[in-house]
Amino acid sequence: MAHQVQGVVVKEANGPVTLETILVPDPGPGEVVVDIAACGVCHTDLHYVQGGIGEDFPFLLGHEAAGTVSEVGAGVTEVAPGDYVVLNWRAVCGQCRACMRGRPQYCFDTHNAAQAMTLSDGTELSAALGIGAFAEKTLVAAGQCTRVDPAAPPEVAGLLGCGVMAGIGASINTGAVGRGDSVAVIGCGGVGNAAVAGAALAGAHTIIAVDVEDRKLEAAKRFGATHTVNSSEHDPVEVIRSLTDGNGADVVVDAVGIPATYEQAFYARDLAGTVVLVGVPRPDVTLELPLLDVFGRGGSLKSSWYGDCLPSRDFPMLVDLYLQGRLDLEGFVSERIGIDEIPEAFERMESGDVLRSVVVL
Ligand SMILES: NC(=O)c1ccc[n+]([C@@H]2O[C@H](COP(=O)([O-])OP(=O)(O)OC[C@H]3O[C@@H](n4cnc5c(N)ncnc54)[C@H](O)[C@@H]3O)[C@@H](O)[C@H]2O)c1
Ligand SMILES: [Zn+2]
Ligand SMILES: [Zn+2]
Repeated sequence: MAHQVQGVVVKEANGPVTLETILVPDPGPGEVVVDIAACGVCHTDLHYVQGGIGEDFPFLLGHEAAGTVSEVGAGVTEVAPGDYVVLNWRAVCGQCRACMRGRPQYCFDTHNAAQAMTLSDGTELSAALGIGAFAEKTLVAAGQCTRVDPAAPPEVAGLLGCGVMAGIGASINTGAVGRGDSVAVIGCGGVGNAAVAGAALAGAHTIIAVDVEDRKLEAAKRFGATHTVNSSEHDPVEVIRSLTDGNGADVVVDAVGIPATYEQAFYARDLAGTVVLVGVPRPDVTLELPLLDVFGRGGSLKSSWYGDCLPSRDFPMLVDLYLQGRLDLEGFVSERIGIDEIPEAFERMESGDVLRSVVVL
């Protein structure tokens, strides 16, 4: 019997975000039903609402979640009912050319549940990032569930399911920040501040946080920023260069994803430095740069999907660092809210009031 639960849906671009009755089917082969305990509000959910991530409306929003496995379908061996899991949106296939070459973080065939959840009239829902966790229950592929230590509360563990993992991974995986490196992070929301925290974990010497909101910069100091720049008042490229002996930073993370911040990142890096783009650009945006400047600098320009993470490797490790008091995941939780308060949480995100609003179910 399909389960009838409440879920948060948007039916058209820029349409209202509403609580609807949804039907979650029994798990088929390889599928799992998870009782969601908490789910963070990520900027990517807002991109969905605004039509920035495809036209497959209606979307069931929410994708940064932890919960407990309640049912498993045929052939599922990875998890069992009662397991405490963080959901991931890149369950790798193990068989494509990237996986076969030992680079599963680039898997070209990540998978989600085969069945769709629906509205009560049978309309199929597209689950945000194949998860759809602003709901009491959701249906995912077994590979999207990663077991972690249940001692970590779901409000903090769930954040590893997207933004915090993307940010930490942008620094430690994609940017390969090492001890003694200089790092600049542009855009210090949930993702950017996680990049700051990741740089600190990796032993960076200088960590420069850039944002247009002083509140975000104050938070960045808590996560390990050694310097902050309000880029609505100062040219961040100049400041980053002056803080790095005129050279630019070894790694610059763009956690906004607009041409202006990408250009700042490009020119604020050391000649042999690395730019990591982790902010998601809108589909209609283009970038213009003098090709000679691209050629004239070494290093690398990289993008970071999901912080190039491997959930099975990274989620339990980061939960353990949290439990040891070495990673302040709680510091990302600005507020705990009910499932009916998501539209207001989007407003607070846009006005810069929060790092993460977390829906507790
Ligand atoms: N690559 C991935 O896998 C991945 C995963 C999660 C989120 N994201 C993306 O990362 C981006 C950030 O997400 P978030 O949840 O942290 O969003 P957020 O809204 O919490 O944070 C964005 C931050 O950027 C700042 N900002 C905006 N314009 C700026 C500018 N011109 N210069 C400097 N700072 C500026 C804002 O003040 C805010 O602090 C989004 O584009 C989101 O879609 C990517
Ligand atoms: Zn693969
Ligand atoms: Zn996200």
